[in-house]
Amino acid sequence: MSAEKMETAAGVYDGAGPAYEGKEDALSPEDLSEVLAAGTKEVHEKAENTQFVKDFLRGRIRKELFKLGAVALYYTYTAMEEEIERNKDHPHFAPLYFPTELHRHEALARDLEYFYGPDWQSQVSCSQATQLYVDRIHQVGQEDPVLLVAHAYTRYMGDLSGGQVLRKVAQRAMKLPSTGEGLEFYQFDGIHSAKAFKQLYRSRMNELVLDMETKKRLVEEAVKAFQFNMEVFDELEVIGQTIQEDVLDAGMPVHGAMGGDVSKCPYYSAKMAASGGTAYACQLVMAVLRHPTGQVLFATWFAALAGLAAWYLM
Ligand code: HEM
Repeated sequence: MSAEKMETAAGVYDGAGPAYEGKEDALSPEDLSEVLAAGTKEVHEKAENTQFVKDFLRGRIRKELFKLGAVALYYTYTAMEEEIERNKDHPHFAPLYFPTELHRHEALARDLEYFYGPDWQSQVSCSQATQLYVDRIHQVGQEDPVLLVAHAYTRYMGDLSGGQVLRKVAQRAMKLPSTGEGLEFYQFDGIHSAKAFKQLYRSRMNELVLDMETKKRLVEEAVKAFQFNMEVFDELEVIGQTIQEDVLDAGMPVHGAMGGDVSKCPYYSAKMAASGGTAYACQLVMAVLRHPTGQVLFATWFAALAGLAAWYLM
């Protein structure tokens, strides 16, 4: 599933707007964009495989948990963007300063207002796992600003890569308005082509004057950032076990970019195969049984089987 496909299928790319420097320079393995991509490959796979993320992709979303996820993102982006503002003129960050295009904390505040109402601020608080992430972002911003690059990379490049798919999945599962209320976080109004923008961002990262030692430290920090994200997912997963709420899936999950069944996504099929076909088959049966039509079909099939067995035994 390529990012480009996600964008066009989700109808995000409209071809208008500012043209980014789209030229594909020949990259060297020592370029920061490459060092980061290679150095976080393993942890990226781990993040993809957290239960919370897998459930999300399948469209199995509990609204209360989704809201808590938005709260965690709000605190995370508020901290990150506060530190980005502090370091916007720092030579190791200035080329990556794109507040209009990227910054998310205002969009997240609007999402929280949509979910919790006008007094949302009195209703939300920073969770334990999020607080550790937030503390690290502040520490980096104040003591070692070059490492902010790793935090910005991990979040913004990730959001631009999968955000449109996640938005569609969430919108359908929670039956949110198609006009985007509650999901503004996923909508980058200042970016018309995520692919072109990511290319620009990578080339800006590659223009930073950094020695190999610093690049290695940036990889370590990006790995840490992924781990903080996974800690937040795991925490949400645990909270989810205590929430008595129906999972808001449609039984047979839908897939935003494909406009249909998520199982058609090659990425999804591969994941399911890797995570154990039997478990998936059980889930599929349970999904079918949750539907009245599925129940009727199952009853018919069962009656036919019983009849056949009776005839055979006579
Ligand atoms: C199931 C969940 C996920 C899926 C399916 C997914 C998918 C993808 C895909 C397809 C790309 C490549 C985009 C491209 O070629 O430009 C990508 C890139 C990226 N993702 Fe994810 N992702 C997931 C979870 C995450 C998470 C949880 C994070 C971090 C919080 C993350 C951070 C990133 C970053 C930083 C990149 C940019 C890699 C680079 O080009 O250097 N992703 N993701």
